[in-house]
Amino acid sequence: MATERTLSIIKPDAVAKNAIGAILQRFENAGLRIVAAKMMHLSPAQAGGFYAVHKERPFYGELCAFMSSGPVLISVLEGDNAIARNRELMGATDPRKAEAGTIRADFAESIDANAVHGSDAAETAAWEISYFFSQLEIAGRE
Ligand code: TYD
Repeated sequence: MATERTLSIIKPDAVAKNAIGAILQRFENAGLRIVAAKMMHLSPAQAGGFYAVHKERPFYGELCAFMSSGPVLISVLEGDNAIARNRELMGATDPRKAEAGTIRADFAESIDANAVHGSDAAETAAWEISYFFSQLEIAGRE
């Protein structure tokens, strides 16, 4: 298995619920290491840039408004198969369809306020990590 890095965001709904610690604990329990982390309150433009891939989708405006509605905890997770592993821990986009015991089943309200973001592929992970973090902010980089 390859060691990978993936970008995680604990979204405003989960931060408002005081669930940052509980969610980070799940990553660590699953063997993922937190190699970078920061808290930000994104502007609508910063959220829009991050989700630019969705800009033609009908939910884009609401997604940007939601992601800039309060602080978020952005982190880089590292480990074997980190991208798929994190997606498994997160559960399905719609919490009503998320498997029991996943983060979204346990913490998400709805498909639009769904507690966490996680990169879905190696290329998107690399782009998403570089959107928020410089090399100097990631532990272990030379
Ligand atoms: P998507 O990339 O499909 O899901 P995931 O976050 O599981 O990778 O969608 C990105 C975000 O857009 C999703 O987490 C929440 C929001 N969204 C909606 O608000 N409504 C929708 O119908 C969909 C599909 C997504």
